[in-house]
Amino acid sequence: MSFFSRIEVMIILMLAAQPVKCKRLKTPYFVDLITGKKGKVIFALRSPYQLIEMILIPSTGSRRKWLRGLFLNGEVQYVEGINKENYHNAHAKILKKIPKHLIRNVVILGGGDGVLAGKLAKLLPRATIYVLELDPCMIHVFKKYYPHDNDYAFYKRNVKVIIGDAFNTIDRFDRIDLAFVDLPDALNEERLEALYSPEKLGKVFEKAKFISIYNGGVNPTQIEHLARGYGFKVIGRSLVHGWLGAVGFVSHLSRI
Ligand SMILES: C[S@@+](CC[C@H](N)C(=O)[O-])C[C@H]1O[C@@H](n2cnc3c(N)ncnc32)[C@H](O)[C@@H]1O
Repeated sequence: MSFFSRIEVMIILMLAAQPVKCKRLKTPYFVDLITGKKGKVIFALRSPYQLIEMILIPSTGSRRKWLRGLFLNGEVQYVEGINKENYHNAHAKILKKIPKHLIRNVVILGGGDGVLAGKLAKLLPRATIYVLELDPCMIHVFKKYYPHDNDYAFYKRNVKVIIGDAFNTIDRFDRIDLAFVDLPDALNEERLEALYSPEKLGKVFEKAKFISIYNGGVNPTQIEHLARGYGFKVIGRSLVHGWLGAVGFVSHLSRI
């Protein structure tokens, strides 16, 4: 190996070892919401993957009240007091339909806000909850700035985080007792392919015994049909509503 190529290799190694940058932005600032109103951004951080914001939204009620919501790249994930509980409870409802005592390992694909992990850590104290999250800055934000939102999930003994694309890191598991798909909506073709394609979801269907899957804007019957091909039956479906009333579904699946 020549001298120069050795230096090049060293530079590459040094760059690869750089810690991920989670850049805190100056707040407050105001943004236009799709309701036509202004939202007040009280926390903002830029990660290599996305812009993470906590936004105060004026409620529509008669008494002026601000509701706090988590937004990723301007897309709402949850709003306190509106759909935060509804969405995560819809996932957790699967526990009423399956033998909880048999659940030892739980995998959440996405879910970096930790809300679902915090709930499951309480409901399944004997299981280990693995959060397969792409963005390390999400974990940083919810560990350091908003731990109360997820009941201190990332400080719990039985919650473990694995950073990386969930459809790669899932390869570390031979079998999964219970899987939750808590990924963003498939708003375009690229995301549909990256998060909800039959090949990607097939990886979950191959390994898990029970699955709670948010449809992410994809027709739930399509996802359920795909699951049936892997030997699953539908044991329930919960309606989830978004901040502005749009509805989605969480399907609960069991290997027959
Ligand atoms: C915050 S949860 C919320 C999802 C919820 N269904 C919603 O849209 O309201 C979505 C998480 O998935 C993560 N994510 C996106 N793509 C991912 C991937 N390929 N692997 C793992 N996590 C991913 C995001 O970083 C984000 O933290």
